[in-house]
Amino acid sequence: MLKLSKLAAALALTLAAGAASAGEVEVLHWWTSGGEAKSVGELKKIMQAKGHTWKDFAVAGGGGDNAMTVLKSRVVAGNPPAAAQIKGPAIQEWANEGVLANLDPVAKAEQWDSLLPKVVADVMKYKGNYVAAPVNVHRVNWMWANAAVLKKAGVAAAPKTWDEFFVAAEKVKKAGLIPVAHGGQNWQDFTTFEDVVLGVGGPKFYQDALVRLDPKALNSATMTKVLETFRKIKSYTDPASPGRDWNLATAMVIQEKAAFQFMGDWAKGEFTAAGKVPGKDYICAAAPGTGNAYTFNVDSFAMFKLKDATAQKAQGDLAAAIMGPEFQEVFNLNKGSIPVRLNMKMDKFDDCAKLSSKDFVDTAKTGGLVPSAAHGMAISPAAEGAIKDAVSQFWNNDKISVADGVKNIAKAAATK
Ligand code: GAL
Repeated sequence: MLKLSKLAAALALTLAAGAASAGEVEVLHWWTSGGEAKSVGELKKIMQAKGHTWKDFAVAGGGGDNAMTVLKSRVVAGNPPAAAQIKGPAIQEWANEGVLANLDPVAKAEQWDSLLPKVVADVMKYKGNYVAAPVNVHRVNWMWANAAVLKKAGVAAAPKTWDEFFVAAEKVKKAGLIPVAHGGQNWQDFTTFEDVVLGVGGPKFYQDALVRLDPKALNSATMTKVLETFRKIKSYTDPASPGRDWNLATAMVIQEKAAFQFMGDWAKGEFTAAGKVPGKDYICAAAPGTGNAYTFNVDSFAMFKLKDATAQKAQGDLAAAIMGPEFQEVFNLNKGSIPVRLNMKMDKFDDCAKLSSKDFVDTAKTGGLVPSAAHGMAISPAAEGAIKDAVSQFWNNDKISVADGVKNIAKAAATK
């Protein structure tokens, strides 16, 4: 009897200790589409298996602008979530406010420096300390195509140049289908625009125009060509595109209503969730003219300073889980991206992911690897927002001449 009660007491103690180390993590993200929700669900499962409580803080809106607005109001109110999806140069801005937690204890214990490409590690650090945990590498310069639609329209292969693209788009139109599934939201307009900058001008021009924001490049004849091409693409979209969410545009390609979509490989998450097979049902190809280049978009979570020790422990576990091989594999299989952790086995990944992985490495050597401006990787959020608006105004208003469009974008790029 005595023995039993001793056992019960020991058990109670262990349970109490377990409970004490388990905390709640409130995680802000904008992953609400079918493929995205499945992916984030995997992180939730891992955290729950560690005994933590996952408090989902999902703010709908592709590209994350809504999520960032909500985040700002929560932080200003002194009530930040434990973790938030924050990427690229914005990480530095948040860290500069003094609100982010130092993740070095986890990063050192888990040896992140040796598990990450240096370009990525640098973005995750503020003054030499890790303040964010990277999740994946998305490639933005993809073109998705429905194989059956191409066949019906008599398009033999995915177009490799913009000239080939317009020939293909014309055939699709003649076949009575929608050539380009476009979601008319400013960040999607900007996503297509950066593909055109890269495809028409090449990686060096892209760097000059959208990373260094060089006025000479922004006002050049190449930029005129970019805007002409961009406007021509619009003529192959359907009239219902304004305001459409990106995943609904992907659904049009999945459902054989449209031939192409220009979108990062989170679109593949939708194809995957719909049970579609690359190479058979759909084709992934680099956007025209960008086969030798790679616009990267690394998702990451920054953690906010919290006082409670159990909450801090949960944050550490979340950071470790994000960089762990289990999560890196299962999350990215669903999300359409590739693991950011180096030396991961790719055997479970499809051909699009394998191509992405190969091109990521190859383009890093040739200078073709460039940060996505439309997805918060290249420039300050202020400049990004201003360019995004100018690009979107041009896309939406055919009365703006190409010359004025060039001027407006160059002017927006000067925003500090
Ligand atoms: C990107 C983000 C992706 C995906 C996409 C659509 O900015 O990096 O993970 O979620 O927006 O929402």
